[in-house]
Amino acid sequence: MQCGGSKNATLPVLASALAVSGPVELQNVPRLQDVDTMLELLVSLGMRATPTAPHSWTLHPPTHATLHADYRLVSQMRAGICVLGPLLTRFGNAVVALPGGCRIGHRPVDLHLRGLAALGAEIEIREGYIHARAASGLRGAEVNLLGSAGPTVTGTCNLLVACALARGSSVLHGAAREPEVQELAGFLSSAGAQISGVGTSTIEISGVDALQSVCHRLPADRIEAATLAIAALITGGQVTIQDAPVEHMQSVLDLLSDCGGQFSRTENGLHIRAADRLNSSSILTEPYPGIPTDLQAQLMALMCLAEGTSRVTETIFPERFHHVPELIRLGAQIQRHGNTAIVEGVSSLSGAPLLATDLRASAALVLAGLAACGTTEVHRISHLDRGYQQFDLKLRSLGARIARTAESAAGI
Ligand code: UD1
Repeated sequence: MQCGGSKNATLPVLASALAVSGPVELQNVPRLQDVDTMLELLVSLGMRATPTAPHSWTLHPPTHATLHADYRLVSQMRAGICVLGPLLTRFGNAVVALPGGCRIGHRPVDLHLRGLAALGAEIEIREGYIHARAASGLRGAEVNLLGSAGPTVTGTCNLLVACALARGSSVLHGAAREPEVQELAGFLSSAGAQISGVGTSTIEISGVDALQSVCHRLPADRIEAATLAIAALITGGQVTIQDAPVEHMQSVLDLLSDCGGQFSRTENGLHIRAADRLNSSSILTEPYPGIPTDLQAQLMALMCLAEGTSRVTETIFPERFHHVPELIRLGAQIQRHGNTAIVEGVSSLSGAPLLATDLRASAALVLAGLAACGTTEVHRISHLDRGYQQFDLKLRSLGARIARTAESAAGI
């Protein structure tokens, strides 16, 4: 099974193309609803975007951008906020709607705004929009991106681009270390940015006058790869995932091995085989290199069928538990205490109609439905299409009995 391009690497790179003064060619761009929304947003800001191959795009950034990122598009996904830094640093002005995204709890942007203000931007929030101005350009500064729940990923992306074109040097303290941040830094460096310390929590940037034309290939999606691995384990099967970014999946592969998964590297990917027995586990979501919050729901679905008691603690988005009542509808035994769920493994789940509430929860419900006896119907799968390319078809080609029965339901 081929792993698609990374959604969370692609979106900030696409947005950052606004800060480049020449054509940008991107390869391995996944076909996802969020990517379409980002492209539509960029076009509304003056970008020309042309598909050049099934997963390749050439972007022609505007020389005079429209500086208004509209609510209709930004409200559809969290990554909409990633146009703020590029617009402000290149054009000195930006009006960007407060972002939307999955309903996984409170998602503030205070760290983004505080960081841009430290670079000299004047920022006001009026009528649901962020109004940011830096009439004489941004200037380098020391910025702290650490919030109470850890570093901010998209905030680090916004500040990286902003600092790349700011006058003088900047230091980002408490920067996110996620591979997607490293990917953006690689993209910007190829375009001429001067960045060091990427992959650590202190990033240093020396501003340059302009970013130049660049060609960049996006990496495979570590969340999709891990979701497919969990699909193999929950169904007692096996799968080979081509291009799985194994080097960025260590914590989750260690966890899945403890649960009984057997892994081997292939020439360009990963093979996963389920063992006879699925062990329970203790799962704690953390910033990279810890277990990603974007896998919490899928891992909880797996633990529902593990032998014994598992604890699942969510430290990044403490309210990210909308999948719990849906898993319980399948017969799972889960009790929530604050940001921890205690899961008593059961020997089988039984199919039921379910409602998907957010992107990763949708994937978790599909996985649980694959393992459940009888038929499960997952409604509102539009969430799934935001982040998984043709997930139903991929699973079907692996032997799952799954069909898209209407726009909003997947029967399993
Ligand atoms: C990104 C990912 C998302 C992932 C999340 C955490 C994208 C498009 N989305 O989201 O899939 O679940 O990282 O790995 O890449 N916070 C603040 N103030 C801020 C910003 C964030 O307090 O200004 C808090 C958040 O409420 C949360 C924590 O910081 O508790 C991490 O959020 P953040 O890393 O910003 O998530 P996103 O970048 O939005």
